[in-house]
Amino acid sequence: MPLNAPKASTSLAILASGTGSNAAAIAEYFQGHNFVSIAGIWTNRPEAGIKKREINAPIHGFLPEKDETRVLAEWKKLGVEAVALAGYLKKVPLAWIEAFPGRMFNIHPALLPKFGGKGMYGLHIHRAALTSGEAFSGLTIHEVSKEYDEGTISFQCRVPVEERDTPETLQARILKAEHWAYPRVLEAQLCQTPMPNPLSCPK
Ligand code: GAR
Repeated sequence: MPLNAPKASTSLAILASGTGSNAAAIAEYFQGHNFVSIAGIWTNRPEAGIKKREINAPIHGFLPEKDETRVLAEWKKLGVEAVALAGYLKKVPLAWIEAFPGRMFNIHPALLPKFGGKGMYGLHIHRAALTSGEAFSGLTIHEVSKEYDEGTISFQCRVPVEERDTPETLQARILKAEHWAYPRVLEAQLCQTPMPNPLSCPK
């Protein structure tokens, strides 16, 4: 841990809708961490993959249309100071964004602003990157703003597109890079330490 890291621990909430692999990677990375603790993982899908994973963090279900205020109150009660969207595919309520200015982050499996926005999720993203003949795709970690996949970019890492790539193979390679990058970028943001080197990202 760098010498200039802050002493107090920051409590992080994770939001997940998908298979939960990023949420699991974040929870594992911060297990026993000196300066970041995981308050829990919140999911809007009862069948979300995160529920089937062995994770050392409480998992909470909620309905975005109904529980927006309750979740925010829960976070306040638990002392949550930052939120990481890890494959969370619903639009985030403005009240949540306003409660965590510059401390709510999202990961997207493309080099934004390319292949982002409404409808760009799952294999649609990787299909679009292959169709447009990109030499590189990759990942973007950014602050959450009112619009999908917009907001100040914190980190990007390029992943080469290979000649034989299918949407599935490209997705799998980028996901591996996400698992490496997201916890490290969150750590840098929350502990105010240097960003990881994008060249060290597994490809
Ligand atoms: C990840 O590739 C993440 O970048 C993406 O959803 C996947 C979730 O996988 N997020 C978005 O597309 C947000 N616009 P996971 O559930 O295995 O972490």
